[in-house]
Amino acid sequence: MGVTELGYVVFGVSDLAEWREFATSLLGLEAVMEPGEPNRLYLRSDYHHHRIVLEQDGRDDLSAAGLRVAGVEEFAAMQANLRAAGIHFEQGSPELIRQRRVLDLIILKDPADNPIEIFHGPLIQPHLPFHPGRRMHSHFLTGGGVGHMILRNAGLDAMYRFYRGLGMRGGVEYKIAAPGGNSAEVLFMHCNDRDHTVAFGPPGSKSVNHLMLEVTNIDDVFMTHDLMQASKYPVMISLGKHANDHMFSFYVQSPSGWLVEVGYGGRPATHQSEYYERDTYGHVFSAQMGPGMSIDK
Ligand SMILES: [Fe+2]
Repeated sequence: MGVTELGYVVFGVSDLAEWREFATSLLGLEAVMEPGEPNRLYLRSDYHHHRIVLEQDGRDDLSAAGLRVAGVEEFAAMQANLRAAGIHFEQGSPELIRQRRVLDLIILKDPADNPIEIFHGPLIQPHLPFHPGRRMHSHFLTGGGVGHMILRNAGLDAMYRFYRGLGMRGGVEYKIAAPGGNSAEVLFMHCNDRDHTVAFGPPGSKSVNHLMLEVTNIDDVFMTHDLMQASKYPVMISLGKHANDHMFSFYVQSPSGWLVEVGYGGRPATHQSEYYERDTYGHVFSAQMGPGMSIDK
C-alpha cells in the first residue's frame, strides 16, 4: 500500500541553459522541452516522459520529490492514512497534474519541510526510446525509480516515523566518528529493491544534499568521471565504494551547488539492519567540501 519508487524529482534552478549542458553533455541525460513551457526542462533516463524536471526560478534546490504509489486504490488509501496520522496535504491542481504528466497527485511536506508529491499513473512513452545526451556504454538503471536522494533532516526519529508511514523501511546504516568523541548517524529508507530511496544525515540548509543516478556499466561511471574532471564542475568526493549499498560512485557539484552521485553496482536492499563506520574504499572528500556537507561516508 505504500510508495513504490522515487518516480520523479523537480528542481528549481538559476540557469536552465547551463543545467541543460551539464545534464546532457556531461551526465548523458536526454533533454525535452514542451510547447508552451519555456522555463521548464524535462530530463529523461528511460521510457518515462521525464524523471527529472528543471524549472528556472532561482531556487537551486528541490521543488518536489515525486513518490509513486501503485494505482488509484493505493492513492486513496495513502490519503486515508495521511488523514488518520494528522498529516496535512493538498490536492494537486489540474494544471500541476498536466505538467507532471500523471493521473493524480497530492502535495505535502515531510517533517524537515522537504517538498513531497505522492502520485500515481506517470506518462510512459514506449514510442520514444531513451536517447542519451551523449555517447554512453550502457543506460540508466531506473527499475527502482530515478535514483536516490539525501534530504534535509529534522531528527532521525521524526524522519523515520514519516517515511515509515509512507510504507518505507530502513534504519541507521552509518555511525561516523565526529569531533569530540561523538558520532554522526545516517538513516537510510527503502521502498523497493533499491538499497535506499531517501536518506538523512547531519542537517544541511538545502532540501537536497545529493541525487544519485545509477548506470548499468561501470565504464559509464569512469567516462562520466573523465568528462567531469575535464569540465569546470568539481568532483567533490572521489571514486569509491559505499559500505551499505555497495555502490561504486563519485560525486560532482551540480550547477545548483548540490551534488550529483553517479554510481554502478548497487546491491538490492537488505532486510535486516546493520551499520558501518566507514566506506569500503575511496570516496575521499575534496578540499572544497565543507564539514558535514556530505554524509554518505
Ligand atoms: Fe548516495
